[in-house]
Amino acid sequence: MPMNSSMPQVQFKLNNGKDMPAIGIGCWMGIVGNSQQVTDMVLTALRLGYRHIDTASNYGNELSVGAAIRQTNVPRSEIFLVTKLSSEDHAHPEKALQQSLDRLGVDYVDLYLMHWPQAFDPDSARYCLPEESPTFVETWKMMEALVDTGKTRSIGVSNFSISNLEILLQQARLVPVTNQVEMHPCLPQHDLLSYCTSRGILLTAYTPIGKHKYASHPSLQEIAQRKSVSVAQVLLSWGIKRGTAVIPKSTHEARMKENLTLVSLDHEEMQVLDNFHRQSGMHRSVCGFHSSELGGSCFGWTYAQLGWDMMEGGTMRS
Ligand SMILES: NC(=O)c1ccc[n+]([C@@H]2O[C@H](COP(=O)([O-])OP(=O)(O)OC[C@H]3O[C@@H](n4cnc5c(N)ncnc54)[C@H](OP(=O)(O)O)[C@@H]3O)[C@@H](O)[C@H]2O)c1
Repeated sequence: MPMNSSMPQVQFKLNNGKDMPAIGIGCWMGIVGNSQQVTDMVLTALRLGYRHIDTASNYGNELSVGAAIRQTNVPRSEIFLVTKLSSEDHAHPEKALQQSLDRLGVDYVDLYLMHWPQAFDPDSARYCLPEESPTFVETWKMMEALVDTGKTRSIGVSNFSISNLEILLQQARLVPVTNQVEMHPCLPQHDLLSYCTSRGILLTAYTPIGKHKYASHPSLQEIAQRKSVSVAQVLLSWGIKRGTAVIPKSTHEARMKENLTLVSLDHEEMQVLDNFHRQSGMHRSVCGFHSSELGGSCFGWTYAQLGWDMMEGGTMRS
């Protein structure tokens, strides 16, 4: 049976005592830029009960997200607003955050994420190596100071592996409240989830319904039909039940509504989803970041530098 109404209000307690709504609306539209479509999507999401919005400086649409925040009758204090520091801004997070706040038209964000561990040097037009300044530890220390300014309530990271979190945590004053990574049954990242949970870091699953690319798979269809819900609802319910926040993107009102209405999965159903990636050819990134086609690197760093443990054939260990 669908668990209605109360699910949008499910909150995760962050390691700094603040609450984050478990379901957010993702604002990556597939192309960079502001548009009326982004404003309309966020306005609709807020009307339907979403209270968590995920955007990024890199998405180029903070102006459009900000327009929705101004136009909605939902008070700013009820909205959990997330934006992200771009790689090219690692040397000056304070300036970059102020630029994001100006575009969003708000005084603070609830969460500021380091979008990727890699810094990009605009002068030489290349990604810095892990040991080159600004390292992600140096950038993190500057982000820690931003919490003291009140311009962000919390800070976190995105696309961090266990090995890079290990480096960060050794020198961090503040433990990231979340690590936002690609996560769905084709890429469940069980080891990363255990690691983050043991250190009080909430995982936020991006691309949580796998862009709906493998929704026709019989194992998923079977669970969805038994529960009389859609595959998207099954995938999001799995994500939340295993203790991760989820930020699906949709511009369609009916789907947005569906994505807020989750089901209670039993142990056997959770097992099917936990082990889904073990089926032949199913262990993969749908974003293409963890992909053998990229030749073992992503945004200038090798998979070893990213801490992504690829096995032969482009599949990953869980
Ligand atoms: N931190 C990072 O590096 C990073 C990277 C990627 C994404 N993200 C964040 O994660 C968010 C979500 O990821 P994503 O957009 O890549 O993937 P996703 O949410 O897994 O999938 C979005 C796709 O699924 C469709 N969809 C959504 N709900 C559906 C439903 N109930 N039934 C059928 N189709 C449905 C959407 O189409 P319609 O819009 O046409 O409905 C869209 O094409 C992004 O928007 C962004 O905020 C973060």
